[in-house]
This record gives sequence, C-alpha cells and structure tokens, in this order.
Amino acid sequence: MNSNSNQIYPVIWQNDRVSLIDQTRLPEEYSRVLISRSGDMAEAIKTMIVRGAPAIGVAAAYGMYLGATEIDIKDLSDDIATQRIQFLKHLEGVADLLRQTRPTAVNLFWAIAIMLRTAYEETGTVEEIKHTLLQTAQNIQAQDLATCQAIGDTGLEVLPHTPEKLRILTHCNAGALATAGYGTALGVIRSAWRENRLERVYADETRPRLQGAKLTAWECVQEKIPVTVITDNMAAHCMQQNMIDMVVVGADRIAANGDAANKIGTYSVAIAAKAHDIPFYVAAPFSTIDFDLANGSLIPIEQRDATEIFQINNSSVCAKGADFYTPAFDVTPAELITAIITEKGAIKPRDLINYQMQ
Ligand code: MRU
Repeated sequence: MNSNSNQIYPVIWQNDRVSLIDQTRLPEEYSRVLISRSGDMAEAIKTMIVRGAPAIGVAAAYGMYLGATEIDIKDLSDDIATQRIQFLKHLEGVADLLRQTRPTAVNLFWAIAIMLRTAYEETGTVEEIKHTLLQTAQNIQAQDLATCQAIGDTGLEVLPHTPEKLRILTHCNAGALATAGYGTALGVIRSAWRENRLERVYADETRPRLQGAKLTAWECVQEKIPVTVITDNMAAHCMQQNMIDMVVVGADRIAANGDAANKIGTYSVAIAAKAHDIPFYVAAPFSTIDFDLANGSLIPIEQRDATEIFQINNSSVCAKGADFYTPAFDVTPAELITAIITEKGAIKPRDLINYQMQ
C-alpha cells in the first residue's frame, strides 16, 4: 500500500515500520506515528491512535509481525526444533498482549488468530516463519481494502430507489480511517457519491469521543462529500422532519443471529429509524461476524475511562461528585436491521445462519 496516493490509508507498512495516522489528533492535525515494536502497537490500539474494527485487525496483524522480529535467532537454542518452540511461545505472548487492548471488535482476535495459525503451519525456519508472517499481515490489509470496495458495490444494490439523491445518516466513523481504506458504512456512502446517488451525509457527532464530528466529517470534507454534523440527540428529530432516507452504520462484532455491536448510540438510531420506517443497514466485512456467539448479549462490551465523558478539552463538564457509566458500544437487535451489507451481498440477519453452515 503506497503512501503517495491521495486516498486515506490509516495503516501503511513502510521501511520495516508501520506508519499510522494518529486519529487522536484529527481533525486539527494530520500526523503519522511510526511503530516498530509490538508493545507500541498494543498501546496505539489501546489509546485509539488506530481505531475502527477492521483497522484494528490490520494493525494487530502487523503488531504480531513486529513481535516476531523482536526475537533474535541468536537468543534461541541451536536446535532447530527447540528454536521453533521458543519462537512460537514468544509469539503467543505477543498475541496475549495485543488481545488485551480492546475487547469488542472481533477483527482484532480474528487477525491475531490468522497470524498465529500461519506461524504454527509454516514448517520452515524461524526466519522463514517471520517472512511468511509479514506476507500474511500484508494480505490481511490488501484483502480488507478489496472487501470494503466490494461492500460499497453491494451497498449500491440496496440503496432506496427514491429519491434520486439520498440523505444518508451514519453514526461514529466506519470510514477509510476505520479500515485498510475506503470504509464499510462510509464505503457505501462513497460508492453512492461516486454514482451520483448521494445528496448529503448526516454524521452523528458520536459522544463521547466524537468520531462522527472529528473523523467522518473530516473524511467527507477531504473528498468534498457534503456532510452535516448533528449532535446525537438530533437524529430522531431529523428523521421526523423527513430529512433522512437511509441509515448505514458499521459494526465491531455481529453475533450469529444478526445482533450487531457498534459504537454506543447506534441502538437509539436504529430504534428511531424503525419508528420512522427508514431502512437501517449495517455494513461490515464477513470477518466481523462472530459465529461462535449465538446472540448479541454475549458480545463483550468495552468500558472506557470516565474522563471521556466528563472532560472536554481537559476541562470538566460535569458536576463533581457524579458517577459515570462508560460503555463504548451497544448492541442493536437483529430485528431492527434491514440487512447486513457484506462483500458477499446484502444478507438479512435471519439468513446469516445459512452462511454459518458453509
Ligand atoms: O471505538 P471505535 O472508534 O474503534 O469504534 C468504531 C466503531 O464503532 C465503528 O463503527 C466500527 O468499528 C466499524 S469500523 C468499519
């Protein structure tokens, strides 16, 4: 993935390091952070320098490779078989560290599992395993970009036929910044814009971290896609005022029955959409579906630091002495979801079960 393109690539492998867009500094400042150690990658995921389910997966895959390069062959036994065992043990430790960063996005665990499996299945020397791990991380990244573009194509098939130019509401940021590039929900929006089917994006600001106001709006502005930022509590009002034709959001984990976890506030948007008979779509790669979980109540919900709620720009906006409730995600029940827009087509939540058996 080269860095010379105008497109937004949050993760770039460059000169033996990973270059990440620092998403905590957008939109005030576009800057990149260089990561060359697995511990720093874990920290970057935890502190949300890189965020968004698929982007976390890509970053974690490179984190695994960086962890592999931290093992110096000179520190290992002379015996090749023992070397392999020592190497794999170290890699398991790296996987554990990365797994502890963010609990909800299944793409993190999915990417780490692929990297571990690759290491176990590669029968060559430690150096050969390292080489294969880098290739695997690069494949995960390239595949995610292609997947997002395919999700955009699927999205075009489900766009309401009228009006000709749609007003689409989204929540949080499921854009290029949250993936290898292009985005899932914002990928559908990008494709609609390209095909002249979009009038405007309504971006919920997405309290408490404001990914909608900061990141989704930034992406749209970069590409001159008309965008209106609204506070989260305006979404239902906009629907009632007949300002919204469709909702599309991303997902961090989708259970086997189609319940979908996404940024806190998504559930309220889905309820409002149902009340106004507005189609509500979840756009996500297949890797976001966790067929091991029967329903959404089993999805682990990340709790964040309370400062994200009570502080804005380092000043407190809440009365001292109050307590805080801090879930970062909520679960939208399958019955509120019109369809899940994936690289394999738009799937009704109840039909997911057919894919589980494939
Ligand atoms: O906490 P974040 O910013 O990582 O949450 C991101 C979201 O909720 C996205 O909608 C989701 O990860 C899908 S990204 C394509």
